[in-house]
Amino acid sequence: MADLTSTFYAFIEMYGGDAASVRMFHAPGRVNLIGEHTDYNGGYVFPASLTFGTAMLIRKRDDRLVRMASLNIPLRREVDAGRLVYDPEDGWTNYPKGVLEVLRKKGFPVSGYDILFAGTIPNGAGLSSSASIEVVTGYGVLSLEGCETDVLQLALLAQEAENAFIGVNCGIMDQFAVAAGKKNHAVLLKCDDLTFDYVPFAAKGHRLIIGNTNKTRGLVESAYNERRSQCERAVRELQAMMPGLKSLGELSPVQLAEAEQVLSSETLRKRVRHVVLENDRVLRSVEVLRKGDLRTFGQLMIESHASLRNLYEVTGPELDAMTEEALKIPGVLGSRMTGAGFGGCTVSLVEEDQAQPFIRQVGAAYEARTGLTPEFYVCDIGDGVQEILA
Ligand code: GLA
Repeated sequence: MADLTSTFYAFIEMYGGDAASVRMFHAPGRVNLIGEHTDYNGGYVFPASLTFGTAMLIRKRDDRLVRMASLNIPLRREVDAGRLVYDPEDGWTNYPKGVLEVLRKKGFPVSGYDILFAGTIPNGAGLSSSASIEVVTGYGVLSLEGCETDVLQLALLAQEAENAFIGVNCGIMDQFAVAAGKKNHAVLLKCDDLTFDYVPFAAKGHRLIIGNTNKTRGLVESAYNERRSQCERAVRELQAMMPGLKSLGELSPVQLAEAEQVLSSETLRKRVRHVVLENDRVLRSVEVLRKGDLRTFGQLMIESHASLRNLYEVTGPELDAMTEEALKIPGVLGSRMTGAGFGGCTVSLVEEDQAQPFIRQVGAAYEARTGLTPEFYVCDIGDGVQEILA
């Protein structure tokens, strides 16, 4: 987490006044352990929140001015709380603006604020830095305004900001994981009815290592939307056989062969096969983890990556190279891409004493294969959004 005292100093230096009325909130980033591209299909996901994230210092003003600054990016903005519009020139400040606008539209009190963010999530790595800003803004503002909120409502507000204000058609997983995460637990979320359950993730003697490919995720948005519409199309075609079907997440592996006969193209068959089997892998992962069987969980991670590569086609050479190199290291139980794909990060489950050799060897081999310098984070599972009391 960003250093508390120096962030308070930076706030006072920037906005003046005294620190007494400034409050600090923190929302983490997230890593998805398994269950990729299943959220917008009404399926299961299994993310965990990280210990790094976004801190927000906020103080209420007497007027309608919203001042936003970050210790990470020089761009700053001052806007009127009654005129919150998306502007590409406004860069990262569109995220807090979007949340304030969603809150205002829903009838929550929104006034002017001085806000300073300090983030420790690498930007653009697919670890949900934007969801983290959105959720911390929503939680901070609602707390300042004395409004009760629960994690689900918060996640939905933040997702609405991303969908309607930013214009990114994401599912609920990122905002939910950031809002609801719990230290040393992963969260099993059923995305059609938003019921969830915490599963202890004490990988005794093992560590989760996130590998950042540092590949810019240029194609991600258009390819993501294309996958979403392919899944929607598959549902429409399958409704000929199953009129009540609402999402692919309702299909079980035993219905797959029958479903595949109805679909009009090989591409749709591959997409559906991934979603149905990935969904099943999430449930099997939870089952084996509850028994402490990390080895089988690692195998399921490997299967998940293969399916995202061969059937859903969202990995790309960098993510494939990094997972392939990871699996060559002794003591690696599993490795897969995490998030939307096409770049971003992998997550690997590694025996604790192999963590440093893993970072050295995978780093060197990945760089030799791709020409890109990767970064690695040995991560702990932290809590979801919360107030940090000084
Ligand atoms: C991105 C989206 C999520 C989810 C994943 C893929 O992170 O924001 O909603 O769809 O991709 O699992």
